[in-house]
Amino acid sequence: AQALLAPGDLAGLRVAVSAGGTREPIDPVRFLGNRSSGRQGTALAAEAAARGAEVTLVAAHIDAAILASARHPSVAIVRVGTAAELGSAMKDAAASADVVIMAAAVADYRPARAADHKLTKEEGVLDRVDLVENEDVVAALAARRAEGRAPERQTIVAFAAETLTDAEQRRERARRKRERKGVDLLAVNLADAENGFERTDNAVEIIGEGGAVVAEASGTKREVAGTIWDAVRMLR
Ligand code: CTP
Ligand code: CA
Repeated sequence: AQALLAPGDLAGLRVAVSAGGTREPIDPVRFLGNRSSGRQGTALAAEAAARGAEVTLVAAHIDAAILASARHPSVAIVRVGTAAELGSAMKDAAASADVVIMAAAVADYRPARAADHKLTKEEGVLDRVDLVENEDVVAALAARRAEGRAPERQTIVAFAAETLTDAEQRRERARRKRERKGVDLLAVNLADAENGFERTDNAVEIIGEGGAVVAEASGTKREVAGTIWDAVRMLR
């Protein structure tokens, strides 16, 4: 009974979490996408709510059965499709969030034009797609914070899925990525056939200030979520 009445160590925090993978339309029937299931981000939202936070979960193409695991009175779900939609929803949510976690796999590029009809081989236009770069959402959120356009002491966490199998090389890339984006913590995981996307388990290292490995976690995505929230708490 004591545990049920305990307030939870994230009580009073407003958090915004993005999850899933964006889809960038090529035409009405095709898109550029990625293999993110949204499991890790959904687990982060569920864990935060269970620990007392008020959560906005910005969800990009997450299977209903997976998304259902974040159902909680303190979780508001905002559904988005493209990287641009995700960026705008996260900017809205981040404006009043104490903690922002970008677990979504955001398309780096989108087709320069989305055709209004299904493209055909007959037209001879299906062999190439012109791309334009999408905004880096998490870097934009960090820049807003630096300009004072965010709650005081906002904490920002990014993810990186890497296929480099050498752990030290992977860490070095993650350190550069963390610096480039201007975030507090970067959770890096190995994404190959056995790990990461579309899996129920995950293994991450969390890179913090000065490139230090501040925590590591492996197990279910919910367990990994627990460790990530522990690392966030240490900064607050
Ligand atoms: N991210 C983002 N906006 C983008 C691309 C990525 O906010 N347009 C975020 C992701 O949600 C993740 C982090 O940036 O939290 C790292 O994404 P990743 O794809 O690993 O990094 P990139 O900077 O896109 O570098 P690359 O894909 O070349 O490795
Ligand atoms: Ca990327």
